[in-house]
Amino acid sequence: MLRGLYMTFLWCGILAFNEDIFKDGVKGPEVVNHVVDLIGQTCLTDNEMFLRRMADVETKDGTDGQTYRSGYNGGIWNIGQDLFNLTKDNPALYDDYQAIKKNLNIDWSNVTWQDLRKPIYSGLAASLLLLSKNIRTIPESTELQATIWGILRPGNRAFDFFVKSQNAPSECEPEKILDVVVILDFQNLSTLDLVHVESFLQYMLDKLPLKNDNTRVAIVTKKQHPLAGWYLNSARPGFTLSDALKILRYTPGPTTVGDSIKYTRENMFTKANGARDGSARVAVLLTDKVTQFEYAKQEAGKLESDGISLVVIGVKDNTTDSYDRFKYVASKPSCRNTLEVNMLRKINDTIERLVRDVCHAPVLLTAGDFTYPCSKSIVAKLPDTTDSVSIMVSAQSGGVAVYAARKYTDPDQSAYDVHLTSSPNDAHTPVLYVRGTDPVYIKVTGQSTGTTCNGAYTVHVKQGKDVFSGTDGVCMVAGTLRDCNDLDMGLISHDVILLSGQDVPNLCDPNNRSIEYFPHPTDPHKFIMCDQHDQAFVGLCPIEKLPCVQISSGCKYTNPCTSEATLSGKMYHNNPCGNQTDYITCTHFGVAQRSACPPERIWNGDTSFCVFKHVHDSSAIGIPAITGIDNPCIHEHADHVYFPYPGDTSKYILCDIHGNAFANKCRDGHWNQQTKTCTTVSPPNVVG
Ligand SMILES: *[C@@H]1O[C@H](CO)[C@@H](O)[C@H](O)[C@H]1NC(C)=O
Ligand SMILES: *[C@@H]1O[C@H](CO)[C@@H](O)[C@H](O)[C@H]1NC(C)=O
Ligand SMILES: *[C@@H]1O[C@H](CO)[C@@H](O)[C@H](O)[C@H]1NC(C)=O
Ligand SMILES: *[C@@H]1O[C@H](CO)[C@@H](O)[C@H](O)[C@H]1NC(C)=O
Ligand SMILES: *[C@@H]1O[C@H](CO)[C@@H](O)[C@H](O)[C@H]1NC(C)=O
Ligand SMILES: *[C@@H]1O[C@H](CO)[C@@H](O)[C@H](O)[C@H]1NC(C)=O
Ligand SMILES: *[C@@H]1O[C@H](CO)[C@@H](O)[C@H](O)[C@H]1NC(C)=O
Repeated sequence: MLRGLYMTFLWCGILAFNEDIFKDGVKGPEVVNHVVDLIGQTCLTDNEMFLRRMADVETKDGTDGQTYRSGYNGGIWNIGQDLFNLTKDNPALYDDYQAIKKNLNIDWSNVTWQDLRKPIYSGLAASLLLLSKNIRTIPESTELQATIWGILRPGNRAFDFFVKSQNAPSECEPEKILDVVVILDFQNLSTLDLVHVESFLQYMLDKLPLKNDNTRVAIVTKKQHPLAGWYLNSARPGFTLSDALKILRYTPGPTTVGDSIKYTRENMFTKANGARDGSARVAVLLTDKVTQFEYAKQEAGKLESDGISLVVIGVKDNTTDSYDRFKYVASKPSCRNTLEVNMLRKINDTIERLVRDVCHAPVLLTAGDFTYPCSKSIVAKLPDTTDSVSIMVSAQSGGVAVYAARKYTDPDQSAYDVHLTSSPNDAHTPVLYVRGTDPVYIKVTGQSTGTTCNGAYTVHVKQGKDVFSGTDGVCMVAGTLRDCNDLDMGLISHDVILLSGQDVPNLCDPNNRSIEYFPHPTDPHKFIMCDQHDQAFVGLCPIEKLPCVQISSGCKYTNPCTSEATLSGKMYHNNPCGNQTDYITCTHFGVAQRSACPPERIWNGDTSFCVFKHVHDSSAIGIPAITGIDNPCIHEHADHVYFPYPGDTSKYILCDIHGNAFANKCRDGHWNQQTKTCTTVSPPNVVG
């Protein structure tokens, strides 16, 4: 959850946080899609299509007039109170309650039946209900799903479920630029099986909007090694992929999934071989075994960092624990991107979920400019935000709306963290700056002036220390959101950022307080810090400063940059682990940064200044010399402005407002500390 210091934006055209699915009585397909998306990402159910279909069959996504009748709180998934009761206080669901708490911050023990009028609660209740019946794996086939529905709804004809779900419209947008590469990597593939695969691929092609060349499909086949069977741009008049499928060759042999993924990344998703700039990219791997697992995982990771989603269709081999391995190479969320069948003959069962997955794949934006016609909407995933990412969208004519969200893969007006609008007439085009945050998805929609939408809009993306200048916008940093200017954006790149709520091994040793920073086990951009309660935090290094693990003196501390301190303007703190030569600076985001005083200076916590460690001799000509006498002004600045000069009564010490100390010489006589003046006579006796 986002928290912290928000939320009045200075700039018009910026709105923050809207989540309709948490509101009572809302309905409609978008709302259901957001619920299914959110639950799908928690992997609470391994097949979100079932939930999607169930919402439609039960209440037509809540649009059925009976859904929200008074006295009944079943919500969109139509969960009666008896069924809702089954989801409560069930020891078998302990892990699932934890998952809901962790991912959605919902404490199921507090949820009442009335809460199910909010769509997310109704969807969760449906998921928990399935789990309470011990239905943890939902088959791909609609017929079998219909049977499961029959278990939840005894007396209803499962057939209805089946028939209704057949009518779901295709979810592929013909306008979307989509590059799909299908990888075949089977160790056993009989001639008959190859026919099944070919007919399945043909089935898939029929469901994709290939006509206008916005969607392109390629095939990687195998002949001992991975081999291009068809490139994204191989089609020519009179010879299409469908024709090529009929004569596709495949030589089965031991699988090396790592090799085929690598081949795909290096040879198939290239410009020369037909991949388009700014396209959504998906690789679909069909396999019966993942061998050389670590290598495969590593290559899958590279594919993902290139912005290509990997969907795995696994044909289960009953001799291995193959399913887990399919899951570990698929893109996250793995439950969504892993489709599994027991035998190749059943591969058709995966078609709907596959097409849904492929068609929903986000565009990956990298640093650069991407231009789209105004009539087109895009959904994109921002690159990894460990180093910063900033985007600005400018419109030629009309306007443009940008929705950004971390939880929702398809943000829109009903689900967003940030909503920016801009038009060509605006003095400023707002920027969205992101660092140290979960993956961020954006949706960009061209807006028409009057009735027409012409011209184009451009999404400008910058990464790392390269930020936009002369513009203002929103900073989304380590779970906080606020408006900021380009100066802040540049500054944040220097910060150490503490991320909370991350899963890390807790290495903090309660018996040994000599270490406070540890290297992160997997990511050199991060480190682990222990606080004095031995809680582990993950820190993000400043950009381009790797590695940044600091071993300190043996003192531990909690981050002093609390939001209370920051709001009250206290941005500097003593470093309890330092030796007075350094101090802590807080950024507006609650980020603690260690700073060092310049040479010869030490930190004066009372005035928040680095002051000279020794007294200055201001009688010297030019730059004052330092005397070697310790500065007495530190911590004493307010009431004690004068001090006697040790060993010389013709001098005295004067403090400045920061706590620097200067030696001054009396014009006449000697320093009188009581009257705080130089005097030629002995001080009078002071009575009192
Ligand atoms: C469900 O549980 C509530 C509270 O425990 C109880 O009042 C209610 O009667 C139960 N309803 C059904 C239908 O079981
Ligand atoms: C849930 O209820 C418990 C006690 O009944 C309370 O302490 C806790 O704050 C509640 N949590 C939420 C999220 O409301
Ligand atoms: C599958 O292929 C592997 C190696 O290619 C072979 O050892 C195994 O016997 C085959 N299994 C079947 C069921 O054909
Ligand atoms: C795997 O499935 C085949 C065909 O269904 C069967 O003959 C074989 O015994 C199964 N092997 C194991 C280990 O279950
Ligand atoms: C899969 O679906 C396609 C298209 O409907 C069909 O031609 C093919 O026979 C099906 N394959 C199997 C194994 O059912
Ligand atoms: C505590 O940790 C430090 C640094 O790793 C190590 O040198 C030291 O031996 C440890 N002390 C104890 C008592 O384990
Ligand atoms: C104080 O600490 C800094 C680094 O934290 C170190 O470089 C410096 O030598 C220390 N100074 C003294 C006087 O110990």
